[in-house]
Amino acid sequence: MPSRQSVVQLRGAAPVVLPSLLLCDFGNLERDVRRLEDAGVRGLHLDVMDGHFVPNLTYGMPLVEAIRKLTDLPLDVHLMISEPARYAAQFCDAGADSLTIHIEAAPNPAPILQQIQDLGAAAGLAFNPDTPVEAIEPYLPLCDIVLVMSVMPGFGGQAFNAVAIEKLKYLSDRIGPEQSLEVDGGIAMSTIASCAEAGAHLFVVGSAIFGTPDYAVSVSQLEERARTAFTTTGR
Ligand code: DX5
Ligand code: ZN
Repeated sequence: MPSRQSVVQLRGAAPVVLPSLLLCDFGNLERDVRRLEDAGVRGLHLDVMDGHFVPNLTYGMPLVEAIRKLTDLPLDVHLMISEPARYAAQFCDAGADSLTIHIEAAPNPAPILQQIQDLGAAAGLAFNPDTPVEAIEPYLPLCDIVLVMSVMPGFGGQAFNAVAIEKLKYLSDRIGPEQSLEVDGGIAMSTIASCAEAGAHLFVVGSAIFGTPDYAVSVSQLEERARTAFTTTGR
């Protein structure tokens, strides 16, 4: 049964780094999940790609189900797929605690966001660097999470697109205390502080964790960098 609350309450623990399971060692998934748990992470970001909405193909419900069996951590599932409404219930059944859909895949996301919440999961709306913030503004009241993409979706290891900073600042003043701003793509020690200062609560990180020898050190350094930024901006 999805736990919307387990994701909504991450806002209160902000800044929260969410490792993105795209660059992890899928041949040793249990080992990587345990390393992340030992590193003290408070959730996992699962990058689902269908090879149609994005030019990459990752995994679907079976892997979400397998990860659900491995951990009690909140599963923040990022649906980079063309037909999110078709699969929302199946991903919730598989164990997703939040489902984030792309406005580029669902020009009228309202019914799907409502469907996700009705299924008991947190509803997220993502938008790409080349999509203006005005496109998602009408749907803010329906979102538990707003995911600002700082790379074009599809691959880890890309360079951070600073267009996300202005979008985070704009949205930071327009969301409520129960809603989370999440940023995804190119988040590293050199970029996380500016995202935190701009208003992000949740930080999706792939290569800046999985490309490093010690996940615990990487996660704690990133969260400390974001926390310092929170302090200097009085958040
Ligand atoms: C890109 C994914 C991101 C990506 C993050 O489509 O949504 O979550 O894996 O990886 P890094 O942190 O390496 O940009
Ligand atoms: Zn993602």
